[in-house]
Amino acid sequence: MEHKPVLLTEVSNYLRPEPNHFFIDGTVGLGGHAATLLSQVLPGGRLLGIDRDAANLERAKKHLSEFEDAVVLVCDSYANIRVHAQAYGFNQVHGILLDLGFSSVHVDDPERGFSFKSDGPLDMRYDRTQSLTAEEIINSWSEDDLARIFRQYGEERQARLVAQAIIKTRAQTPFRRTHELAELVAHTVHQHGKIHPATQVFQALRIAVNDELGELQRTLPECVNLLASGGRLAIISFHSLEDRMIKQFFKTCSDLKVLTKRPVVPTRQEQLENSRSRSAKLRVAEKI
Ligand SMILES: C[S@@+](CC[C@H](N)C(=O)[O-])C[C@H]1O[C@@H](n2cnc3c(N)ncnc32)[C@H](O)[C@@H]1O
Repeated sequence: MEHKPVLLTEVSNYLRPEPNHFFIDGTVGLGGHAATLLSQVLPGGRLLGIDRDAANLERAKKHLSEFEDAVVLVCDSYANIRVHAQAYGFNQVHGILLDLGFSSVHVDDPERGFSFKSDGPLDMRYDRTQSLTAEEIINSWSEDDLARIFRQYGEERQARLVAQAIIKTRAQTPFRRTHELAELVAHTVHQHGKIHPATQVFQALRIAVNDELGELQRTLPECVNLLASGGRLAIISFHSLEDRMIKQFFKTCSDLKVLTKRPVVPTRQEQLENSRSRSAKLRVAEKI
């Protein structure tokens, strides 16, 4: 089981689980946050957990087995949250949690292709039944489309240069492995500080493969509709594109009262214990 879930105490304090409460965890992952919520909603409460990744959902199933009928797990994108909420009687819930992006097991398993640190196939899908992979994007998208995703989703300043280098290389040999792409990017762009030069390009690809911004944009209004009055929506994001989208949505949605003027970030201690938590930002809003 992975180490402590990100911002666990803060999430729990904002969502205030109590017996008889109903919660939805749209990114149940390994079930870390869900276990804490479930332990406080009993008796009488329930949790609907959704994850796009079948392997993670299996892990959540094992981790949450002690909660038996109080937990319902569904393998799908949180973009379909309304359908599943209605099917399982989770209407007018007390709280919804989204803990966005990938989980530790995704980056730790080279076969999933999320990491440039270890070599693996260029995959990056959360849902492995989906046909679009990182390999397909790299080998078949146009120079303009590649430059656009590197710029928009990776905020890569040398997006065009990387796209051109990819087009030139793939004409000889198509890309198959994460190391092939990471090496090409490292030879093409200037390194900014200590961050690996392929960081931005890999982030952009992951967002494009899984349509992460589109899924989030579609889901935010659905979450508001599912909350009871006084119910809370808590979202943890890990990069500025998502954080900006959430901040903007919270500000402009007339049904929400924002509870976090500034995003909540992990304590120094948590950042030391869990390096992935360093970029985490939690925003919470309450349905009026
Ligand atoms: C950061 S992890 C969540 C960890 C979880 N909170 C825990 O405590 O174990 C994010 C999870 O969201 C899933 N995910 C990513 N995009 C998704 C989407 N559109 N719909 C549902 N799940 C998604 C990933 O497969 C991953 O398991």
